[in-house]
Amino acid sequence: MSKSRKLFLRSKKVIPSGINSPVRYYAPYPFFVTRAEGSSMWDADGKRYLDFCNGYGALLLGHRRKEIISAVASQLKKGTLYCAPTELEVNLSELISKNFPSMQKVRLVNTGGEATMTSIRLARGFTKKKKIIKFEGCYHGAHDYVLVKAGSGAAHNGISVSAGGLDEVSRNTLVIQYNNSQDLADVLDREKDVAAVIIEPVLANMGLVPPGKGFLKDVRKLTQEHDSLLIFDEVVTGFRMSTGGAQKYYSIRPDITTLGKALGNGFVIAAVGGRGEIMDMLSPEGQVYQASTYAGNPVSVSAAISSIETMNRNKAKLYPGLEKKCKDLASSIGDQASDMRIPHQVNRESSMFQIFFTDRPVVDYATAKAADQEKFKTLFKELLREGIFVAPSQFETVFLSYAHGEDEIKMAAAAYERALKKVKQ
Ligand SMILES: Cc1ncc(COP(=O)(O)O)c(C=O)c1O
Repeated sequence: MSKSRKLFLRSKKVIPSGINSPVRYYAPYPFFVTRAEGSSMWDADGKRYLDFCNGYGALLLGHRRKEIISAVASQLKKGTLYCAPTELEVNLSELISKNFPSMQKVRLVNTGGEATMTSIRLARGFTKKKKIIKFEGCYHGAHDYVLVKAGSGAAHNGISVSAGGLDEVSRNTLVIQYNNSQDLADVLDREKDVAAVIIEPVLANMGLVPPGKGFLKDVRKLTQEHDSLLIFDEVVTGFRMSTGGAQKYYSIRPDITTLGKALGNGFVIAAVGGRGEIMDMLSPEGQVYQASTYAGNPVSVSAAISSIETMNRNKAKLYPGLEKKCKDLASSIGDQASDMRIPHQVNRESSMFQIFFTDRPVVDYATAKAADQEKFKTLFKELLREGIFVAPSQFETVFLSYAHGEDEIKMAAAAYERALKKVKQ
């Protein structure tokens, strides 16, 4: 019996479903990791995997990036948690504001979910309105405000996707179709109580679905016209698409932004920021409550400062290089699938892509759902056998990191080709 299997059997006895976040499970059991370096991870049985999951996008610079590890090592000598302010927090917030000018003031938190929860409470506190609009298929964390699916009919009222989720809360979340400006215009015309529209500027939680031409500009214009705030959830895209995130990439200025993942490149940190007058609503001076013991802890803050400095220092090579490698890999996979006559779509943006087994373009939740998920499962299993680790779900994204060299890209392309042959069978 493999060591991973043994560990999974032990794990199931003490950890619900044997894992600490649902997407980590796949049948019959996930591999258990012992260490990681650069573009690779090793499992308990000594097998090496090229990592294309990359902490669901967090590890833009790859595993154990040396500058970050040494910044953290030097902070460890000075303490790990003070629960009193530090100059480091000021430095980091200034750096974030400099890279994201729309984030005039910043509050540091721990997770993306905490950041989006705070952003929505802030929007409600500032506008004195109650409802929010989210797009079907966008994921913003595991809390009741956003853990909703679309209800039936034109009302779009949200229904909780989770047992224990309160419909009283979900009802105030209106769910509409991504890439459909008219849908947003109609709902904003009808509903008078919308505090904010929250959106992943590039949808990376339904496979990968980029915004259609002009869509984000429409969303910005419509929210302004209806006095609703625009929240860009840049937990995935922040620092991944550019040092100024998707808002710089697409030249859109949101009212509030959430960051996570690549901000800490593997360390636990997230942020919420926006226009000064909105952010000043936060307690203790403002009326919107937000708090956390570990917020702004010096270890994560040191990691984030080092990440941002490293990304900025390397940005001339980093972003075009990642984009080129991603383009090469995604187009080689698309060409292979075409040669094998497998109906498919490859969606790509920046350093993210996903393949869908369908002959219709994937532009929203319905078209993503229509793809053949059994074929994706076969692809995932074959890639895993080949030592290529991508997220184990059609509704996740393949992420590249700076640690992936040309050789790794070639190895992945060859593995995809062999895996696609199995999908074809
Ligand atoms: C766009 C987006 N927002 C928010 C979150 C929640 O972040 P966290 O898992 O750190 O709570 C995620 C997580 O995948 C995400 O992809």
